[in-house]
Amino acid sequence: MGQDIAPFQAISISRRAHELKASGQRILHMEFGQPSTGAPKAAIAAAHGVLDAEAMGYWESQPLKERICRHYLEGYGVTLSPRRLVITCGASPALVLALAAAFSPGDRIAMARPGYVAYRNTVRALNMEPVEIACGADVRFQLSAAALEALEPAPQGVIIASPANPTGTIIPKDELAAIAEVCKRRGIQIISDEIYHGLSYGPEIHSMLEFSPDAYVVNSFSKYFSMAGWRLGWLVSPEAHVARTSAYIGNLFLTAPSLSQHAGLVAMDSRDELEGHLHVYRRNRALLLGALPRLGLEKIAPPDGAFYIYADVSRFTHDSLGFCLKLLEETGVATAPGVDFDPAEGGRFMRFSFALSTPEIEEALARLEPWFAAQPAR
Ligand SMILES: Cc1ncc(COP(=O)(O)O)c(C=O)c1O
Repeated sequence: MGQDIAPFQAISISRRAHELKASGQRILHMEFGQPSTGAPKAAIAAAHGVLDAEAMGYWESQPLKERICRHYLEGYGVTLSPRRLVITCGASPALVLALAAAFSPGDRIAMARPGYVAYRNTVRALNMEPVEIACGADVRFQLSAAALEALEPAPQGVIIASPANPTGTIIPKDELAAIAEVCKRRGIQIISDEIYHGLSYGPEIHSMLEFSPDAYVVNSFSKYFSMAGWRLGWLVSPEAHVARTSAYIGNLFLTAPSLSQHAGLVAMDSRDELEGHLHVYRRNRALLLGALPRLGLEKIAPPDGAFYIYADVSRFTHDSLGFCLKLLEETGVATAPGVDFDPAEGGRFMRFSFALSTPEIEEALARLEPWFAAQPAR
């Protein structure tokens, strides 16, 4: 029998937010990590162009694979053969593929806690065992080589995320190299989720492929490329697993949508527009970092990348789900409770996504400030 897995609570918040919206309230959506900007204009134009011209059968775009290989060469100095790539319907199926192809039921997979909710739940759904490593504010909520060295017995695998969800923290280059070294020595297979690459507010972002050519790497068009609903992403698999990964995708998912692959290819050359989004996120991040301490939320790890702030709300509550629901009902601002990311400590945290327009962030802050001022401290 399959394992029970916990629901994503941000979805229940979002559902309630949409009910309130339907009843006429103006809602500010900070609950999902979802750019509100839409696909790059040139990508949409390309999609319009092919719609009338193509039958849209099952298809794996070789030009897109080659373009992604160029992306690794130009962005990270990594030479990759297109045969190591599969095009997927986003990072989610890429993660399923990597886990299914690399591990067996019962295998132990390490990951940081807090971390993206689907890591532990997908691992469980595949009858593997998540090994959550508590990573507090003192280690900027990130895994380290030392933490992986200390795990006894060594797990079969580890999921690395940099920049991370829900915190946006980035693992520095030397630490990534040290993680790669520990994993190689201890026989730990790495899956690196690089979905937030391209979204940094300072620190350089490195791919795990620079240090561990045998890592599985997951990526997506959902975040930097602003194409979440197009359902497009990719998986790089180790040379030795290429045949297995391609057999798995053929059986489990067939192909990604043809229309999205055409559009994604063009999106990869829409740099100016996408960098424009990053400027907006940078402004939003600064606004929030400036304002949150005034709300009584001083304990935050400033995000290096992605578009999230993970804030300690223990001063007000240990029930982040109830707190986020109350906030939504009383202000129309939807946020994500920490329990989605950390089943142990998450009652004391909440996550704000700032992938909105700057006027929306300003409006959210105007509602949040009086509301937080009225909340009794615990
Ligand atoms: C860290 C992380 N990985 C993977 C995903 C899944 O993204 P998608 O399937 O849209 O590519 C998300 C979505 O928010 C995420 O935050």
